[in-house]
Amino acid sequence: MKIFITGIAGFLGSHIAEAMLNEGHEVLGCDNLIGGYLENVPDEATFYQIDAKYLNSMNKLLKDVDIIYHTACTAYEGLSVFSPHLIVQNTVLTTTTVASAAISQGIKRIVNCSSMARYGTQEKIPFTEDMIPAPQDPYGISKLSAEHLLNCLSQVHNIEIVHAVPHNIIGPRQKYDDPFRNVASIMINMMLQGRQPIIYGDGNQKRCFSFVQDDIDCLKKLAFLPEVVGEVINIGPDDEFITINELAETIADLINFKLNPVYMPDRPQEVKMATCSADKARKILGYETKYTLRQGLQEMINYIQKRGPKKFRYHLDIEIVNDKTPKTWLNKMF
Ligand SMILES: NC(=O)c1ccc[n+]([C@@H]2O[C@H](COP(=O)([O-])OP(=O)(O)OC[C@H]3O[C@@H](n4cnc5c(N)ncnc54)[C@H](O)[C@@H]3O)[C@@H](O)[C@H]2O)c1
Repeated sequence: MKIFITGIAGFLGSHIAEAMLNEGHEVLGCDNLIGGYLENVPDEATFYQIDAKYLNSMNKLLKDVDIIYHTACTAYEGLSVFSPHLIVQNTVLTTTTVASAAISQGIKRIVNCSSMARYGTQEKIPFTEDMIPAPQDPYGISKLSAEHLLNCLSQVHNIEIVHAVPHNIIGPRQKYDDPFRNVASIMINMMLQGRQPIIYGDGNQKRCFSFVQDDIDCLKKLAFLPEVVGEVINIGPDDEFITINELAETIADLINFKLNPVYMPDRPQEVKMATCSADKARKILGYETKYTLRQGLQEMINYIQKRGPKKFRYHLDIEIVNDKTPKTWLNKMF
């Protein structure tokens, strides 16, 4: 099969590319390199440095493609209340373009990477797919809009759509010099530089991290199984819930670092309790957590150590600067 991956230089996109190549598929993809790393793209994949929002380009690139994995996105939840234009453009507009070109080119299926931000704050955790989504920031609203858009177009044009909802993924190839997202990578990068990590709020926000390989085993199946069409499926573990404070302690323990975190005010609209149920993925995709959190974090530490810790790059525009904008970004504290 010919598989096209938007965001192929990104963390998830590059792992999907590698998995699909290993299964013997032809892989091609595009990325505008706003995130990710160019060296993430596997040598055997065909790479186009193209922005997925351009319809003419996407129409050309998608010729004869069978399946699309749509991962391209600026997945910045915290930043999205300060740079909504950037986030919405790279989420809603890219999805619209990909859908339009995919339908024109007669593509069979789009596997869309959504986000647990679609759920927002719910009364019960872990979040299950049948809950009414209540996103509470422009990122979550964009991810849900992208889902609606794809669902609407698939009803008219018969393209198959699947929505994967991965959450808090960790692992090698994740961007770790980005001050705006990826809490575990940021902490590792800082501690390896001998610097104390920064924690927003009291650090008691609860998360459940998934190791990328565990997610990839499920994501691979979403391209081919008939029973997943039209479904929303959480991908990731629902055990080992951990607070951000505990995450810092675990990383410090693994790299033998004397921890004394710097606490900063909460970021607006941050969801406090965010964990997803894996019941549906277990049932339909045979999801299994094979990596413990410590193993996953150790793999990331090895990756960052090998490439060397890096200075953070403030590569994105903050559109709204006022008294609510985190000082961590304005004063480049990372
Ligand atoms: N990593 C996670 O924990 C996580 C959790 C939930 C959902 N997701 C979703 O999975 C997808 C991939 O996330 P990731 O963590 O790999 O992010 P990532 O930033 O590593 O990868 C996304 C890639 O998309 C590219 N991109 C962004 N806008 C683009 C555009 N307009 N045109 C072409 N390329 C563009 C970026 O350069 C980047 O390489 C996203 O849709 C994200 O919302 C990720």
